[in-house]
Amino acid sequence: MQLPDEAITYQYQSLLVTPSEEWTPASELRTQNFLSPARLKELSPRLSQVRSQILAERELQQVPLESQPLDAGFIDLPQKTLDEQRRKGDASILGRVLALAARLRDQVDRIVILGIGGSYLGARALFESLRSSYHNELPAESRLGVPRIYFEGNNVDNDALQDLLDLLQTTCVDPALREERWGIIVISKSGSTLETAAAYRVLRREAAEYYGARSEWLKKLTVPVTGTSSKLRALCKAEGISEEDMLTIPENVGGRYSVFTPAGLLPAAVMGLDARALLLGAAAMTSRFLEEPVDRNPVLQYAAVNYLMTQELDKPLRFLSIWSKKLEAVGFWYDQLLAESLGKQGRGPTPLTVVQTRDLHSRGQQHQEGMRDRVINNLLLKTPRALPIAIGMADRNDDDLNALARKTLPDLMNAALSGTNHAYAEAARPTADITLPALSEHTMGQLLQMLMLATVVEGRLMGINPYGQPGVEAYKRHMNAALKG
Ligand code: PA5
Repeated sequence: MQLPDEAITYQYQSLLVTPSEEWTPASELRTQNFLSPARLKELSPRLSQVRSQILAERELQQVPLESQPLDAGFIDLPQKTLDEQRRKGDASILGRVLALAARLRDQVDRIVILGIGGSYLGARALFESLRSSYHNELPAESRLGVPRIYFEGNNVDNDALQDLLDLLQTTCVDPALREERWGIIVISKSGSTLETAAAYRVLRREAAEYYGARSEWLKKLTVPVTGTSSKLRALCKAEGISEEDMLTIPENVGGRYSVFTPAGLLPAAVMGLDARALLLGAAAMTSRFLEEPVDRNPVLQYAAVNYLMTQELDKPLRFLSIWSKKLEAVGFWYDQLLAESLGKQGRGPTPLTVVQTRDLHSRGQQHQEGMRDRVINNLLLKTPRALPIAIGMADRNDDDLNALARKTLPDLMNAALSGTNHAYAEAARPTADITLPALSEHTMGQLLQMLMLATVVEGRLMGINPYGQPGVEAYKRHMNAALKG
């Protein structure tokens, strides 16, 4: 059950025009660049309509041609996955994910996760936000049985792949030892994405050399996560991997919406994360989306505010300004989600990620005084995981920090945030805040589901199909032609 203080909030009051404000040059700027509360209210009936449309789309058995593709399966999936586990236990999808993850964790100290786009970014966001930033460098005892994690197959960069092979070759010498064994999770819904397929072939060759071409390890230490009838599935089957040792990305869930399918859940479980808590968080967000009125519904509010900013206030750039270094990869995940979902028909916001306070020293100037082409959504973490680190007193005070001795890093972060929000508000630069009460599986589940649902709502408001990515095919066609030429 979700406790109220675990719930994510979305605060956008600071980008609303104050109707009774006296005329000044600054208030004039705010009128031009901030949202009118009346306009937001006016959108309410349309939002409810769009929600009903999305609700109905979930239940469609036959999808009319003009609505295709329709990958609405992600909406109810978290709750369905939890319910199925309650009914079927180990035989359920989550039961199988947990069993395969436990097997990998028992057998190897390194896992290479292959995948790209939606088959990669969700797992990376979970790893970076919920594991130590130095996880791979920690000794085995401190990692509590969780293997080191590497991501590949998300590029065709020769030197990066070679670096990984070098690492495996120098650190893994005796396959009889768990500490020197490594395994592969290969994730590709289509099973034919060139980047991932090429990396898988290279890693399989490496594994065959290391374990021996006929070794049982080859089958036991590779887990494919793929579509029901993909080339990857056929290949793995031919390599002797049984159906029970493969996991499936459901047909009605698109790649960038697949973090709560085995594409995200298996890596999460291997990383030692609580996959059930992730699903509970995501399911709680779906319930809020479906049941709460607009004024208490973070999905509808986020979608509405950002839609109006882009479409009516002419702010094509959408920054996710992240106030926790560990959440940076959530920004990369969201960049893909928004860009591939809404960047269609010559339209759609351009997503960009910044991490604060780091990027106040690179993009801060432009946010404050550059073009008025952006809305900034801050992503905040209310309480850090670790105890606050104090600046502390020092004998030598040449840096003048003794005056701040009692301040902690969270104090500095909060001061930077409120200072930045204040400065942007004064200059009529619109900002809003998504607040995570804490960093946990449950809040990450809520956050990712909130952003996926809001993207679908925004697409429907714009009259753009948020599913599918027809534009990505063009480069692939030319690339294949170049390879064959
Ligand atoms: O959102 C999407 O569908 C894409 O970004 C895919 O996730 C990405 O192209 C990888 O595809 P696949 O999982 O088929 O290898």
